[in-house]
Amino acid sequence: MVTRRDFLKSTGATAGALLGGATPLAVFAQAASPAPLRAREVSVQLLPDDYPATRIWSYADATPGELLKVRQGDWLRRRLVNDLSTATSIHWHGIRIDNAMDGVAGLTQDPVPPGGTFDYAFNLPDAGTFWYHAHTRSYEQVARGLYGALIVEEAEPPEVDRDEVLVLDDWRLKPEDAQLEPIFDNQHDLSHAGRLGNFVTTNGRYDFGLDVRRGDRLRLRLINAANARIMLLGLSGLEGWVMAYDGMPLARAEPVGETLVLGPAQRVDLIVDVTAAEGENAWLLRAEGNEGFAQTEFRVSGAAAVARRPAPAPLPPNPRMEVPGLGLARRLRMTLEGGAMGRMSQGTYNGQNRTFSELAAENQFWSLGGVVGMTDAPLAEVALGETVRLELVNETAFAHAMHLHGMHFREVLADGGLGPLRDTILVMQDETREIAFIADNPGDWLFHCHMLAHAAAGMITWLKVA
Ligand code: C2O
Ligand code: CU
Repeated sequence: MVTRRDFLKSTGATAGALLGGATPLAVFAQAASPAPLRAREVSVQLLPDDYPATRIWSYADATPGELLKVRQGDWLRRRLVNDLSTATSIHWHGIRIDNAMDGVAGLTQDPVPPGGTFDYAFNLPDAGTFWYHAHTRSYEQVARGLYGALIVEEAEPPEVDRDEVLVLDDWRLKPEDAQLEPIFDNQHDLSHAGRLGNFVTTNGRYDFGLDVRRGDRLRLRLINAANARIMLLGLSGLEGWVMAYDGMPLARAEPVGETLVLGPAQRVDLIVDVTAAEGENAWLLRAEGNEGFAQTEFRVSGAAAVARRPAPAPLPPNPRMEVPGLGLARRLRMTLEGGAMGRMSQGTYNGQNRTFSELAAENQFWSLGGVVGMTDAPLAEVALGETVRLELVNETAFAHAMHLHGMHFREVLADGGLGPLRDTILVMQDETREIAFIADNPGDWLFHCHMLAHAAAGMITWLKVA
């Protein structure tokens, strides 16, 4: 990888070389309308070379889809072209976005049919690590690979030697032919932990690695793009700090502890120094039960000029990060019910009261506040600018990664303090957590579990901010 400065230099050089006789006007037009994002089927080598390539869906010829980089405060303008044989749409996860651009088929836009297009254009108010993914049958389309990283760069990024995006995903592949297990909504996944893969990649590779020097300072942007897997991560030969969660800077850099928990859709920005010796490897490790896996390898050769540096200054804050007015907040409470081994006996589905077994017959297994799946009316209507406290009572036997569209929230901690600003919170089995946010973004916003099979099986609702 190259540093930002090298990158600018090399783009400059390439542009210069390619320009030749092109008129400035043509160049300008090209810059103004970048190539569309084409959702399409491609073949990629996910497994080692002696296996066949895997057919996946992507927004590029590889996986993850195109890495999008935008400066904070700028606009992103991209046309989605649907080259698939089924409808799709793109959601820009974690962006405090204009509601019409949120990409939720059936709520904020019509699904884009095969051969169709949709022009996304929106401002990016927050710097940080975000991602984008399909939001039409997302339990299938995300599992097939329809996602990419969206990096919004600070005006003055922190001083690091390398800035790397590491997208983690698990794929469920049939070992015989290396193709995706094609049933995306089997009842077991829908009613248990969701679709868990049998093969975990970093940036689409089982053996992804980077060459670094001892003493290098790295910014690592980790994104969990898996449908349902909670990634338990650790570092070896790397030491450093958590700088941001879900794109939002922490007020203070926080030393990385023993285990970093990254639920589906969550992100974390780290700044780490390479402490492994020259000739050795440093690792991003992933724990699974009692086993540890080398998820990403950092091969250490050479040494940076500076051996050890002081802790980094916090990242510059994004606008509107405070959540004041807790005392006067509108209070909502939501039970999370259902699933295998749960206590749910009934739920409201399409306006009718149904028993758990009637629901199961329709592949619906979960409810939020007693309601299964989407409703015509929002779960709640909230006044623009109102502070909302939402208590999440998990009465199921599973963890859920609850994601709010359009606005970030803070957790209300047991001592009344507030946690970091996030867009997705893991609520473990039998846990109760409370979040608070300012409803400062008008529109219709989904609130759902990002274990995508759970959302497909009922764990999805919406709020109206008006
Ligand atoms: Cu990242 Cu509604 O999703
Ligand atoms: Cu869930």
